[in-house]
Amino acid sequence: MLLRDAFTERRSVNFFNPEKEVTDQTLKEIVELAGLAPSAFNLQPWRVIAVRSEAQKELLSENANKQPKIKEAPVTLIVVGDREGYRPENSVWAELKAMIGDEQAQGAIDAAGFLYGSSEERKIKFAESNAGLYAMSIMLAAKDLGVDSHAMSGVDFEGIKKAFNLNASEEVVMLIGLGHYDETKALYPRRTRRSLEEVLEIV
Ligand SMILES: Cc1cc2nc3c(=O)[nH]c(=O)nc-3n(C[C@H](O)[C@H](O)[C@H](O)COP(=O)(O)O)c2cc1C
Repeated sequence: MLLRDAFTERRSVNFFNPEKEVTDQTLKEIVELAGLAPSAFNLQPWRVIAVRSEAQKELLSENANKQPKIKEAPVTLIVVGDREGYRPENSVWAELKAMIGDEQAQGAIDAAGFLYGSSEERKIKFAESNAGLYAMSIMLAAKDLGVDSHAMSGVDFEGIKKAFNLNASEEVVMLIGLGHYDETKALYPRRTRRSLEEVLEIV
């Protein structure tokens, strides 16, 4: 699929066909492809929890305002961002050390610690900006593989964090339902986008 088509044809699919599966193989392909998303220092401060079982869907639904999509989609992803993914424990640093040597890599580790770890606001920006790009990549990768999606942030972030045992430094960034549009139900026409005059300033 052309990237341009993925942009124009992707919709937030409000109605999923519960009979039409997304296999584990397809799910893995989506997550792997989306992992090519860019991130600060290539730190990839994200992970996803794929919610598939009825029991876990129930738990997620209870913490997501019972949005019906969660039960209808064959799988819903919890996109998790790590506010402390810049720390020296991140395995990405070991790869960098092997690439450019300990001393230079240490400089990068120190820089990342300052840029992303020196205030709570910076930590949140770090987690949300990187994982946000990852989330969009998931939706475009899914579209390319013939899978529809629906992002959700109308949820109880803290409730999901507790229910799914996230680490203290991790945040729920958004949910993404994955599946296939139930064509028996009408989607709203695509909403208009704000004009270029409103969103673009060339200085
Ligand atoms: C971060 C994010 C959170 C969203 N949260 C919800 C949500 O909780 N419930 C919902 O029905 N739609 C949600 N949406 C879907 C938007 O309403 C939808 O993307 C927007 O209306 C544009 O429609 P389109 O994606 O079909 O182009 C969310 C979208 C994004 C990107």
